[in-house]
Amino acid sequence: MPAGPFGDAVRQGRDIFVHTREYAKAYVGNGLRCSNCHLDAGRLAHSAPLWGAYVAYPQYRRKNGHVNSLGERIQGCFRFSMNGKAPPLDSPEMVALESYAYWLATGAPVGARLAGAGYPKQGFRPPQPPDYARGKAVFVRDCALCHGADGQGQRAAGRDVFPPLWGPDSFNWGAGMAQLDNAAAFIKANMPLSRGGSLSDQDAWDVAMYIDGHERPQDPRYKGNLEQTRKQYHDSPLSLYGTVVNGRLLGARPSQ
Ligand code: HEC
Ligand code: HEC
Repeated sequence: MPAGPFGDAVRQGRDIFVHTREYAKAYVGNGLRCSNCHLDAGRLAHSAPLWGAYVAYPQYRRKNGHVNSLGERIQGCFRFSMNGKAPPLDSPEMVALESYAYWLATGAPVGARLAGAGYPKQGFRPPQPPDYARGKAVFVRDCALCHGADGQGQRAAGRDVFPPLWGPDSFNWGAGMAQLDNAAAFIKANMPLSRGGSLSDQDAWDVAMYIDGHERPQDPRYKGNLEQTRKQYHDSPLSLYGTVVNGRLLGARPSQ
């Protein structure tokens, strides 16, 4: 890493990325860290690496209907994936994260869609419609060992070792991971940890359905009407928000 003030910003960005609560506490509202979903400190291909993101912004996003800077994209992951607050664009935390992403992308061509960028979801479709009961069987067989039978992850000596997949300490309903195609693609490429690629496509979709078929913190864009929030932000078969899964209406929790 470079020396001097720029190197300090790069290191701070990496620290925030890997120990998000410790270094950006004011903006974190759950038990996750950035590197739980962007593996190997944001460097691993097929887990939305920062080097792939850096050269791909500014970019139009359907999610909010305008062109987003990289900073605004990062704000989105704080608000939804971290169930927290968006750091201001000129805050030291944001400058550090952008410095780290910039440094990881050294030498990459601006505007390129780099191989391994994002999650590999293009053209990734389930052979059969995803199924909650089959997904539960996959979860018990391949995931519960680390993430816990209740999906709440595991903590040791006050530190989280395995992250929660649903419930109050996980990502909220507005997060990308709450969308089945993102979850299925991430899981197929990266889970079980260190055995990425080992699940069948069907198993990856089924277990994504199982995970995203559980309750989690409210979408922060919710203004009191579940049906309307679904219509406005979740109008897709890839979102289970506002639908009944396994006999439970999802997203019906009041906002915090
Ligand atoms: C719960 C999982 C999760 C967590 C935690 C998380 N993200 Fe993300 N992030 C995602 C998903 C899903 C996407 C969308 C990937 C895609 O569209 O291929 C994404 C996308 C991104 C992108 C854009 C990637 C691209 O190629 O367009 C950036 C940058 C990013 N996240 C940064 C962060 C930062 C910084 C943090 C911590 C503050 C964070 N993320 C925490 C799941 C997560
Ligand atoms: C060997 C332990 C292990 C197994 C087995 C495992 N995971 Fe993970 N999983 C992890 C760890 C550790 C992380 C966080 C990675 C990091 O921080 O580097 C993670 C992250 C995740 C995430 C993103 C973070 C979050 O909380 O949402 C999802 C989703 C996920 N795993 C799903 C699964 C699924 C589905 C399976 C079963 C097919 C599975 N995992 C099996 C260890 C495991």
